[in-house]
Amino acid sequence: MSDAEAIHGLINYYAEKGRMLHRSLESIFESLRDFLVCCRDGKVLGCVAVPVSWKDLGEVRSLAVAPDSMDRGIGRQLMQQAIEDAGALGLKNLFTLTYEQEFFEKFGFRVVAKESLPSKVWRDCLYCPRADNCDETAMILEID
Ligand SMILES: CC(C)(COP(=O)(O)OP(=O)(O)OC[C@H]1O[C@@H](n2cnc3c(N)ncnc32)[C@H](O)[C@@H]1OP(=O)(O)O)[C@@H](O)C(=O)NCCC(=O)NCCS
Repeated sequence: MSDAEAIHGLINYYAEKGRMLHRSLESIFESLRDFLVCCRDGKVLGCVAVPVSWKDLGEVRSLAVAPDSMDRGIGRQLMQQAIEDAGALGLKNLFTLTYEQEFFEKFGFRVVAKESLPSKVWRDCLYCPRADNCDETAMILEID
């Protein structure tokens, strides 16, 4: 619970720069159990959420590393833990909608047509200001 406001601050810092989508503090609380954080001395340096979307399918979303902590392997650590946890939960696939295609390719994600994702995935899009003009790339990882 004590990390929620820091997670909110981190995501919206990048949202202001157009690199992620905004999330309300309410939505962070609602999905707090989906989050992993990387902390040092009580400070949140990075976060990622992996909500379950559908049978066998989870999403990687809200991945962010604090600007002064980038390029130190924190994003990699968060992704590796997220993928491991998803596999342990029984998920077979993870998808993401991202502006950072190259980063996700490092973890085995491949680009797919947005339309190939189950319709349930689009629930969040109803509330997105870019719903009619989505410029994110859809990617999928098949978990070993
Ligand atoms: C993308 C992000 C999470 C990466 O976190 P990070 O802690 O800096 O990444 P790491 O230091 O763990 O880097 C891991 C690898 O990815 C590479 N990498 C880092 N950022 C990258 C990027 N934006 N694009 C492509 N590769 C990237 C690193 O060079 C490194 O490669 P290597 O292992 O082959 O040397 C971070 O830049 C960020 O928070 N960006 C802003 C928010 C954002 O765009 N989030 C993505 C969700 S759409």
